[in-house]
Amino acid sequence: MRAVQIVDLTGPDTALRLVELPEPEPSSMLTPGTGVVIDVHAAGVSFPELLQTRGEYQLKPPLPFVPGSEVGGVVRSAPPDAQVKVGDRVAAFCGLGGFAETAVAAEFFTFALPPQLDFAQGAGLILNYHTAYFALVLRGRLKEGETVLVHGAAGGVGTAALQVAKAVGARTIAVVSSDAKQRVAEEAGADEVVRLREGWRDEVKALSDGGVELVIDPVGGDRFTDSLRSLREDGRLVVVGFTGGSIPEVRVNRLLLGNTEVIGAGWGAYVMGKPALNREIGSAVGRMIDEGFVRPIVGERFPLEQAGEALKAIDERRATGKVVLDVRAQ
Ligand SMILES: NC(=O)c1ccc[n+]([C@@H]2O[C@H](COP(=O)([O-])OP(=O)(O)OC[C@H]3O[C@@H](n4cnc5c(N)ncnc54)[C@H](OP(=O)(O)O)[C@@H]3O)[C@@H](O)[C@H]2O)c1
Repeated sequence: MRAVQIVDLTGPDTALRLVELPEPEPSSMLTPGTGVVIDVHAAGVSFPELLQTRGEYQLKPPLPFVPGSEVGGVVRSAPPDAQVKVGDRVAAFCGLGGFAETAVAAEFFTFALPPQLDFAQGAGLILNYHTAYFALVLRGRLKEGETVLVHGAAGGVGTAALQVAKAVGARTIAVVSSDAKQRVAEEAGADEVVRLREGWRDEVKALSDGGVELVIDPVGGDRFTDSLRSLREDGRLVVVGFTGGSIPEVRVNRLLLGNTEVIGAGWGAYVMGKPALNREIGSAVGRMIDEGFVRPIVGERFPLEQAGEALKAIDERRATGKVVLDVRAQ
């Protein structure tokens, strides 16, 4: 099969090679000896793969390895107890190995792909939408009628958070850095869009009658203190990632004075060994698809052999929605 490997840790320009590899065994990294084998049509591209080309991600497999955490495709074989069967269209989280014509995922990380979504949208479903649901609902305790501020709102996690929040019945304020990203946040259904510039926090305060109940922050960096100041009493800030490059520090007296909380949301590590929780999140996201709230926004698409270009789009802050590799014809 054709696959793209990371062969060294020199970054997205030079670390990737298109190679021919034997087909993988039906054994997933999470469920050794068993797994769902998938003919990959589209592979999702995300921040972790960019970090992996530099050896900066927490998961550090021995070189060379095939990256790619999630795919949209068709089941070629499945264990007898799986909820999906041969020939089903699926979205699957495989952790590694997605940048290839054939990938293997754990049964509990493989979900039937509803007919409303194409394979590219399937490749953008699990990492972003399960994380968004986990961060907003399970960690952030979002309730109908609350207002959510979403940073990096035109990105993968950001667009997903906007849609999941709307499905819960919340109002959303998106923070973005450019005209193009403003359009994407609007397409994702943001109620309000605030541009990242001096005074953005005052705009948020004005739009939220003094403060928001929840902040979803996949960016971190120097906007963090202003995010805390954007919270109203009982407000929660959910930490999701650090695309801004630096890990912020909290002066905890702010939390005391504001009666606010900072909450961590690390989806992957939390759900990895919890099949029932994965099914619960999958069902909740599935309902949001059926109700028309969840429609993954696919941004730039590249052929498999241009995986490095796809990662550079993320690295250079140009990416919007989900970046996808087309592996087979759609
Ligand atoms: N906690 C979890 O379980 C979990 C799960 C999935 C992903 N994540 C993490 O969440 C973060 C976001 O992932 P994503 O897929 O949404 O990424 P993405 O699509 O690339 O979007 C990230 C956004 O971050 C903003 N940004 C600010 N400074 C940036 C910089 N120097 N370089 C790139 N982007 C920058 C950009 O928005 P503006 O230009 O509008 O500011 C960009 O749209 C990543 O750190 C990822 O590892 C965490």
